[in-house]
Amino acid sequence: MRKQIVAGNWKMNNDLAQTETLISSLKAQVKTSNAEVMIAPTATNLWHAYNSTKNAGIEVIAQNMHFAENGAYTGEISAAMLKSIGINTVILGHSERREYFNETDETLAKKVDAALAKGMRIIFCFGEELADRKSGNEENVVGDQIKKALFHLSAADFQNIVLAYEPVWAIGTGETATAEQAQDMHAFIRKTLADKYGNDIAEDVSILYGGSVKPANAEEIFSKPDVDGGLIGGAALNAEDFFGIVNAF
Ligand code: G3P
Repeated sequence: MRKQIVAGNWKMNNDLAQTETLISSLKAQVKTSNAEVMIAPTATNLWHAYNSTKNAGIEVIAQNMHFAENGAYTGEISAAMLKSIGINTVILGHSERREYFNETDETLAKKVDAALAKGMRIIFCFGEELADRKSGNEENVVGDQIKKALFHLSAADFQNIVLAYEPVWAIGTGETATAEQAQDMHAFIRKTLADKYGNDIAEDVSILYGGSVKPANAEEIFSKPDVDGGLIGGAALNAEDFFGIVNAF
């Protein structure tokens, strides 16, 4: 049975004090939910966030990691380092890292392998640009991103893979994909998985939608059969908005 997940990607926001304030507000909102709840603070705040949310029903996850075990990679963080502070899930492939840090499908495949080697769960992001969608090429773009970074994996590896479809044109723009657009792409993604790994694996993989999810649109998006939750940016920085989305399930 695939999991329902709502994960908040805080991006480069909140210092230590702001992190503690937001976590306190989030803990006050938590109630039994059908969805797994995750937050991704910045790396400097992970250890504090992890200790502040123990047994609170909120998993703290990382926004990124390097593929190397260790070594001369100034400024980078390894999977082992994340695991050593209790972090067991990492976001990889976000469009902002692909754009600003030139992360390629090949680099991401190496990061995926490094995270899996340490037993980590991955929220793997992908999505088309506006020009791709306007030209009707969105499925080819998304299919390539998934195949190039993930299709070297075994079927068993997908127990630790969560997919996150984030149309780049919807991220931070307020231009949310319609629930039908999200469902159509999620169904395509699940079929792409099924063609390679079979229906059982494809049906068990959670596919999240990300891109201007708000409390006002979450219920309709999450009601679609192939949408298993959301990866939330701006709305994750406000406890009421974030749980307005969590409680949409
Ligand atoms: O990773 C989630 C993020 O890219 C979505 O951002 O602000 O459109 O919810 P936002």
